[in-house]
Amino acid sequence: MSKRRRIYEGKAKILYEGPEPGTLIQYFKDDATAFNAKKHEIIEGKGVLNNRISEYIFSNLNKVGIPTHFIKRLNMREQLIKEVEIIPIEVVVRNVAAGSISERLGIDEGEVLPRSIIEFYYKKDELNDPMVSEEHITAFGWASPAEIDDMMAMAVRVNDFLSGMFIAVGIQLVDFKIEMGRLVEDDVMRIVLADEISPDSCRLWDVTTGEKMDKDRFRKDLGGMLEAYREVATRLGIMKINEAHGSKGPVLVSDNDTK
Ligand code: TMP
Repeated sequence: MSKRRRIYEGKAKILYEGPEPGTLIQYFKDDATAFNAKKHEIIEGKGVLNNRISEYIFSNLNKVGIPTHFIKRLNMREQLIKEVEIIPIEVVVRNVAAGSISERLGIDEGEVLPRSIIEFYYKKDELNDPMVSEEHITAFGWASPAEIDDMMAMAVRVNDFLSGMFIAVGIQLVDFKIEMGRLVEDDVMRIVLADEISPDSCRLWDVTTGEKMDKDRFRKDLGGMLEAYREVATRLGIMKINEAHGSKGPVLVSDNDTK
């Protein structure tokens, strides 16, 4: 394989230059990090699962008219994506209190919020991704007021889509984080969904048992992270049920089985 140029390496993914201008290859690593990488472990097979779960979600979002950077999955760990200019804002949508909102505002974990709440965080590892307001975003020029409107509208649509998709398989979408980028096509610039959506970036609870099926298993040392991610993939129909149990690594169904 020819040596590809590495464009960027993050905590869980690497971006390489793509086969054509305007494309990139997104590679999913097995690294699990929390608390701004103060906690770090390799969870063998996590990258393979997140690649497939994120592929499933992004391709379905594309199908319902929510534009994303996703083009196609290339192999077990890589997907071809459109190159976008990432907006340095993490958008968090919360339906149920958990994590930092519970700590910050003293709301019991599990309490259903009066309505879905959208929060913005400035993507800056050195500062631990601080929470910011629309005022900060526009004053510092990270995004325009019109772009913030687009980001919020997209966040609401993604929340509605994901909530329905997960509840249909017995999973409650507690909260999630998304990132967006600017894409210029035919001289028109628009905002598209970028990065990934996976159990690394969502809180997912089993509807009947309340069991955590996301990265909180790693953050809180609960164990069974890979098994939980595999269960999410199985319920979404990405993995076959008889392959999910007792197998050493993730066994994923072929493209033909899922399309
Ligand atoms: P929080 O409760 O820690 O603020 O997290 C809210 C949601 O955002 C949760 O689903 C986990 C996700 N998240 C990330 O994907 N990356 C991050 O760096 C953080 C802090 C949270």
